[in-house]
Amino acid sequence: MGQTVFVPKEIDANETRVAASPDTAKRLKGLGFDVIVEAGAGAASRIVDEDYAKAGATIGKAADAGSADVILKVRRPTDAEIKRYKPGAAVIATMDPYGNDAAVAAMARAGVTAFAMEFMPRITRAQVMDVLSSQANLAGYQAVIDGAAEYDRALPMMMTAAGTVPAAKLFVMGVGVAGLQAIATARRLGAIVTATDVRPAVKEQVQSLGAKFLAVEDEEFKAAETAGGYAKEMSKAYQAKQAALTAEHIAKQDIVITTALIPGRPAPKLVSAEMVASMKPGSVIVDLAVERGGNVDGAVPGKVVTTGNGVKIIGHLNVPGRVAASASLLYARNLFAFLETLVDKAKKELAINRDDELVKATMLTDAGKVVHANFAAAAALVDASPAEAGEDDAPARKRAPRKAADKTADKAGGDA
Ligand SMILES: NC(=O)c1ccc[n+]([C@@H]2O[C@H](COP(=O)([O-])OP(=O)(O)OC[C@H]3O[C@@H](n4cnc5c(N)ncnc54)[C@H](O)[C@@H]3O)[C@@H](O)[C@H]2O)c1
Repeated sequence: MGQTVFVPKEIDANETRVAASPDTAKRLKGLGFDVIVEAGAGAASRIVDEDYAKAGATIGKAADAGSADVILKVRRPTDAEIKRYKPGAAVIATMDPYGNDAAVAAMARAGVTAFAMEFMPRITRAQVMDVLSSQANLAGYQAVIDGAAEYDRALPMMMTAAGTVPAAKLFVMGVGVAGLQAIATARRLGAIVTATDVRPAVKEQVQSLGAKFLAVEDEEFKAAETAGGYAKEMSKAYQAKQAALTAEHIAKQDIVITTALIPGRPAPKLVSAEMVASMKPGSVIVDLAVERGGNVDGAVPGKVVTTGNGVKIIGHLNVPGRVAASASLLYARNLFAFLETLVDKAKKELAINRDDELVKATMLTDAGKVVHANFAAAAALVDASPAEAGEDDAPARKRAPRKAADKTADKAGGDA
């Protein structure tokens, strides 16, 4: 019998995506894997069990994770999920590991080889595996759709017999993958679009999409892009100049979409309470960075807030999950493409090359250890006493048979 890939139904109540599609299930079969998909795993992404079955997968239950050599997931597994995995299993997911040392240590203790897809290097070979891009692209699109839905006017200019409706003014702050798609989507809907970023390379991209670029273009701006293509955290002086420039602009906008992020840092605060207060009633702000601390003063994760002056601030969580069917399709392909590089195609089995730069960049835990250089604190937790690590029965549980109490916790959704 070949090795097995397991695809669970995600536990997080907000998670509508799934880590395999019928297309990737078929491709996994082609690589020589048996594929088990938990019943209902694709339901929120409009994929019914029958579609997976037709692609050659077996429909199973959560406990089938215990027989899997590879587990494909959207989110990092919960402790209850990890307990089911066999030591040596490869777990591939968006791990959100920063600030979650105990969870990283728990994966090491369980002996699984965990890969964080968001650490995939942004090199040509790995473009097809880039979950940040595939999901941010859809988030940028959905941000405009959400903003337009909350806005009580039309976006395009409409010249009709009964009069003219003016075009909406839409401002995008932070023009990475999400911001570029937000600009393109807003332009398609007929809005007048402006955009800002701290990276000079963005100016031309913004203009090529038919939008106007607005930024403080001083010496610091010219050096604001890291070698990796990301933004640096800007100085207080720059932030003050940026705020002065954008304050005046924001007051005239109908919809503002913020997407600004700095890797490993909290999101920069770009829109102050005063700026929000300066906007017209009925204006809308969409904060795509809300899960990373937010770009907008007053944005609340998971809520649409209406301020005293009638401005709506949208802080939806898991925005790619709001277009789940599309997001799952692309996410599944990203994971399949990576898993394909971990397989010996002749032997039809996992053969992880630990010297491969993709593996080095993404592997968090392996053979009982935290192996990623950025997680020394998590590594220390693995060897710490169970009490220090915040767990009561951690070492014993690794290979111990499952207890009745564990099963009850699993049924109740575990500790998700
Ligand atoms: N395969 C590839 O080569 C590949 C794929 C995707 C992205 N990229 C590149 O990676 C880089 C990052 O893209 P991303 O979408 O992941 O970015 P991101 O999600 O990390 O950040 C979003 C944007 O916010 C901007 N930002 C940060 N601080 C700001 C501030 N104070 N004010 C205004 N804007 C601010 C950033 O410059 C970035 O453009 C880009 O250069 C992009 O072109 C490369």
